[in-house]
Amino acid sequence: MSDKLIKSLENKRVVPLVQSDDPKTALKISEALLEGGLDVLEVVLRTDAALDCLEAIAKEFPNAHVGAGTVLSADQSQEVIRRGASFIVSPGLDAASVKVAKDANIPILPGIATATELQQAWNMGLRTVKLFPASLVGGPKILKALSSVFRDVRFMPTGGVNPANLNEYLNVPAVLACGGSWLTPKDSIESGDFGAITQLAKDAIVIAQS
Ligand code: 3PG
Repeated sequence: MSDKLIKSLENKRVVPLVQSDDPKTALKISEALLEGGLDVLEVVLRTDAALDCLEAIAKEFPNAHVGAGTVLSADQSQEVIRRGASFIVSPGLDAASVKVAKDANIPILPGIATATELQQAWNMGLRTVKLFPASLVGGPKILKALSSVFRDVRFMPTGGVNPANLNEYLNVPAVLACGGSWLTPKDSIESGDFGAITQLAKDAIVIAQS
């Protein structure tokens, strides 16, 4: 994983999900998050326009870390790299996607939910993974159990993380950062209240630093 990305993750400790079906809106969401102080963004491939959103954000904000999330295959991995993703996140572990990312020298955080999946990721040479869906597979408790065995692995729990439990996750020493969609609520986006997103980003940073 690139040192610069690790540093930003260590520093901000929160990775917001950006989901939109319109690149212009995606840019506004990203701008709001950056204004709030978050500079690692995960653009999720969950709409038909997601790749266009990713490309637009990566072009507009070259100093941010703009990654692609919900990447399911090697083909998608190749495509998001072509569109400018500087890292890849996937819900599960896929060897072909890991190979594409490694060949391109792009960090990849595959999702793991069990010790077996983590061991497979570890044997692929990965030392940073996503725990997904974090709240359903054991939350901070499973992170403590896994990190006592896989001592050199760092985690990005995602799925069910929110302002109320963020600290509990971040207090686990092996947790690098938490990902989540709570920073980009659909209703704020639909009503054009991007100031609310900036405020959520600022609040998350305060929680992460407390
Ligand atoms: C992900 O893709 O990482 C999750 O869907 C995010 O989960 P959340 O919506 O509970 O934050």
